[in-house]
Amino acid sequence: MERCPAGTGAIVRAARRLAQGRLVAFPTETVYGLGADATNGRAVAAVFELKGRPQFNPLIVHLADSDAAAGHGIFDDRAQRLAEAFWPGPLTLVLPRRAGSPLNELVSAGLDSVALRVPAHPVARALLQACALPIAAPSANPSGYLSPTTADHVADAFGEADLLVLDGGPCPVGLESTVVDLSRPDSVGLLRAGAVTPEQIEAHAGKVVHADAGAAIRAPGMLPQHYAPHRLVRLDAQTVGPGEALLGFGPDLPAGAVLCRNLSAAGDLREAAANLFAMLHELDQPGIAAIAVMPIPGEGLGLAIRDRLARAAAGH
Ligand code: TXA
Ligand code: MG
Repeated sequence: MERCPAGTGAIVRAARRLAQGRLVAFPTETVYGLGADATNGRAVAAVFELKGRPQFNPLIVHLADSDAAAGHGIFDDRAQRLAEAFWPGPLTLVLPRRAGSPLNELVSAGLDSVALRVPAHPVARALLQACALPIAAPSANPSGYLSPTTADHVADAFGEADLLVLDGGPCPVGLESTVVDLSRPDSVGLLRAGAVTPEQIEAHAGKVVHADAGAAIRAPGMLPQHYAPHRLVRLDAQTVGPGEALLGFGPDLPAGAVLCRNLSAAGDLREAAANLFAMLHELDQPGIAAIAVMPIPGEGLGLAIRDRLARAAAGH
């Protein structure tokens, strides 16, 4: 971990790190974020790894402005009005994902929606401008800890990590952004309360439905709209049955699959996490009897991968 004041030189260096797939913690007006290039699956996997999260929760993608955001999400009139009113600022919009968006699927945990935000903090804005990348960033705290509102909080938590911490002083808001779900045309869902109030949202987008924010935050993998394959998923498979597709892991794959992907031939859990959702989509083809998944080690990122696969298997 290296920490430095968020001057121009440090921001240029931080932008270069992001482009290399490495992590940068940076201040936003709400809390410090643990940022990675959102188009780089391995970098996003490293964020989950560093947070020590046993699940893949979808992450917020930070962008320099509304134009950049429009490349990843589909804005209807409500979304456009909210973006005009509150961006840059502490509001996150969950929107249908735009086809062709280069965001890695791990960012949205396989969902067909994306959470987008244009932050107001000058350091966050300078970093986004300098790197010209979408930055995926959850709060920069280990899973289950308090959210960080100073560079000290981040530095104390991630002392040993390969991480550059940009110190921009304490975060002015100190509370995570308001998350509004506009992924369905017929409802405005409040997924997380924050500095932008429900009244302010209603003034621009109509009646707000208070989603079970607790459930959404604790277990977004349980949300009904969460991606599950249509085909059966068979876990810890050592062999391939008739008509089965294979989701492999490691150098030695059993023979006989009608369709095959390998999460990581090298047995690298970061690479496996980065490939997980895209490969599940690719194997979920009509005519496949089931998707047989080879054993994934239950340690580090493997826990989150196994959690996600168990949910996919339980969908039937
Ligand atoms: O203030 C903030 O929003 C901070 C700073 C760093 O910007 N970021 C933050 O990110 O709090 P994170 O990843 O900790 O929170 C993401 C929230 C979670 O509640 C997650 O469930 C929700 O956004 N979310 C993200 N993508 C979603 C999606 N596609 N559908 C539903 N909820 C989503
Ligand atoms: Mg958080």
